[in-house]
Amino acid sequence: MHLALIMDGNRRWAKQRNLPSKKGHEEGAKALLRAMDEADRLGIEYTTFYAFSSDNYNRESHEVGNILGIIAYFLRNFVYPKIMENGFRFRFIGELELLPNELLDIINLINKDALNNKGRMFIFAIGYGGDLEIAHAVNRCIELKSMRFDNSPISVEDIKNSLYTVNIAAPDLVIRFGGHQRLSNFMPLQTIYSELMFTDKLWPDFQTGDLDRFLQKYKEIKRNFGG
Ligand code: FPP
Repeated sequence: MHLALIMDGNRRWAKQRNLPSKKGHEEGAKALLRAMDEADRLGIEYTTFYAFSSDNYNRESHEVGNILGIIAYFLRNFVYPKIMENGFRFRFIGELELLPNELLDIINLINKDALNNKGRMFIFAIGYGGDLEIAHAVNRCIELKSMRFDNSPISVEDIKNSLYTVNIAAPDLVIRFGGHQRLSNFMPLQTIYSELMFTDKLWPDFQTGDLDRFLQKYKEIKRNFGG
């Protein structure tokens, strides 16, 4: 089972309480820690968190700095220990080379120390854009084919094998928090047959028990993948 979570509504959560946006993102990061524990408890093999999209760079620079700073802080102080303690596997996807050094340092540390872990996998999309991922994959396919003097057309399979999510099954279920019913550049190719669920609940309000309710609903769906 691959579950993907689109964590939206941090700023609205803060605004409702007359708090700065930063506080909303901090509460969002705490909610992510609760969701990791819950995904582990429920035995979900792959869980993806859409933490920061490539389009989020268009926000004001102090807001971008706040979000990336909070992500780095929570990865270092809470997520990293959790991974090592539980033997979780990890993958970071997105245009990682554009991230600030403080974030790259902790990502590199996790990649190094969690290399031989065998447990459940958590996927963090940071600076991720599905359109960029596809362009990146196609360019990689062209490069590989030209190196092999291979003139055959690029297949869907070739592209899938060059995505950041290679070897990870497509999301079975995508849940978006925060009231909007859209995917916002999240895994366009991987979600063609994903089940989509939406909730008005703002992400910082995520509670243990929420996932279980969605999963019960998911289990009742008969999927046919177009067949
Ligand atoms: C969307 O809410 C949320 C974000 C752009 C940032 C999400 C980041 C986290 C939850 C921290 C993740 C932590 C780790 C460790 C990866 P919004 O700002 O778009 O809220 P709005 O829709 O109310 O404006």
